[in-house]
Amino acid sequence: MTQTIPKTATDPAGFRTPSLFYGAAREGMRDLLAQPQVWRGERRDILLPAFIGWSANEGSGVFDPVTELGLDPGFYDLTEDLAVDLPALKARLDERRYDVVVVIHYFGRTERAIGRIRELTDRHGALLLEDLAHAWFTHALGGPAGRTGEVALYSLHKMLPMPDARGGMVTYRDPARITGQRETEPAFSRHLLDHDAVGIARRRQENFRALTALLRALPERGRAFELMWPELHDDDAPQTLPVRILGAGRENRDHVYAAMNRDGFGMVSLYHTLIEHLRDRPTMADLARHIINFPVHQDVTPKDYPALVGSFRRALGSLPEQAQAGGSLHLTAPR
Ligand SMILES: Cc1ncc(COP(=O)(O)O)c(C=O)c1O
Repeated sequence: MTQTIPKTATDPAGFRTPSLFYGAAREGMRDLLAQPQVWRGERRDILLPAFIGWSANEGSGVFDPVTELGLDPGFYDLTEDLAVDLPALKARLDERRYDVVVVIHYFGRTERAIGRIRELTDRHGALLLEDLAHAWFTHALGGPAGRTGEVALYSLHKMLPMPDARGGMVTYRDPARITGQRETEPAFSRHLLDHDAVGIARRRQENFRALTALLRALPERGRAFELMWPELHDDDAPQTLPVRILGAGRENRDHVYAAMNRDGFGMVSLYHTLIEHLRDRPTMADLARHIINFPVHQDVTPKDYPALVGSFRRALGSLPEQAQAGGSLHLTAPR
């Protein structure tokens, strides 16, 4: 007699989310978007968020496959703290052109409207592609990031010490969407299992929270810089800690970047230069000129904080655009 409940799970389809491994996330994204089954008609329209960067060394990550495959991109607006502007997204979807919608969980912070976005993409019959290039550890903490869209994209080399700084993964919620895709680096899968993802997520949270508290207490806050994300949600594991350096142009930010990297601190600016399509969007172009990201990864420990904050303060003390006596740098601090 067959058992009503067997002693162990036997349903091969239960909670199955097959993953394909590549040299980089963009390679996996390209493999997905090259599948004819993704597109409903002749046109190949893809909708992306309006904060996507480009650099001579690294290209443009998520945008490279769009260019390489000759897709037709559209963009939806984000708020100044990089959350999806839902009315803007809805307006774009109402154009009824898009077969694929990309949502980026920037710097590992879960896009909190992801459930609502899924309802909208379902209503329009569009495929929701979650970009978790910065968010593998956020996914590991069990929240909605990477569990809401149809397909999820991960950049392993951004989160783990991968061989030759390579590694990307694409995970499918519906195995039937794997049509002609071919993974190129199946052996990379073990690097995920060989690291304590939740342990790393907790370390990143601890670093983010402790550094945020130190930065919040600095007298330069509000005059020379602003925190972008003062709070961290319990199910978010940050990739980096973004702040805005104040100043009319990009000079102050570029100065902090150069000075701190000279001191040996791996600051980055994601993204310091936007792809051409986005340069005329004032809010996003402004963010690109002012953003800088502190490292909070798993190699950073509490003993590193004083030197990191000290280097930041030294850099702020020698900004090219100095604050007026007693006043703030007039500027573009968000409300
Ligand atoms: C948001 C985002 N998505 C995707 C990518 C692509 O990642 P990879 O370098 O693994 O191709 C990047 C990085 O360039 C990124 O920042």
